[in-house]
Amino acid sequence: MEQIKLSSATEKAEIYRELLPQLESLVSGENDFIANTANLSAALKQALPYASWVGFYFVKEGDLVVGAFQGKVACTGIKVGSGVCGTAAAQKKTIVVPNVAEFPGHIYCDPDSKSEIVVPLLRMGMVVGVLDIDSSNYDSFDTVDAENLERVAGIVGKFFPEGIY
Ligand code: SME
Repeated sequence: MEQIKLSSATEKAEIYRELLPQLESLVSGENDFIANTANLSAALKQALPYASWVGFYFVKEGDLVVGAFQGKVACTGIKVGSGVCGTAAAQKKTIVVPNVAEFPGHIYCDPDSKSEIVVPLLRMGMVVGVLDIDSSNYDSFDTVDAENLERVAGIVGKFFPEGIY
């Protein structure tokens, strides 16, 4: 049975240290894209106490469409270049937003969201989607999250199917 085991660690770096190898092993025996992205979003939501929404958007016909996620119902489509997700996709870089109200064009899917991090998913240099995490507290994300979530994006890159979209 797949499960995530976490100690009572509260320090971010320690949480990720425990979590990352488990994420690798969670997807290692499976190459189904939906199964793996669903389990990754669940594992991240379970492990990160400050996350209120964790999920994926994938590029489809030039725009982002919501994929597997954990949390409240979300916006289905986001244009590349719009919001935090679309900006991270357009710029191919991780964006940390300490206060979403101060990010020009931020898209409110959940009115409780206060801070956010979005990490692009790259496959052979192309943006194929983003990993998005919201928090209902301000200033929840920092470089520890950025570095580790970029590693998670790297895990997704390994099983991302060629030509799915
Ligand atoms: N806030 C995001 C939209 C997606 S939700 O947070 C799930 C944005 O500005 O792109």
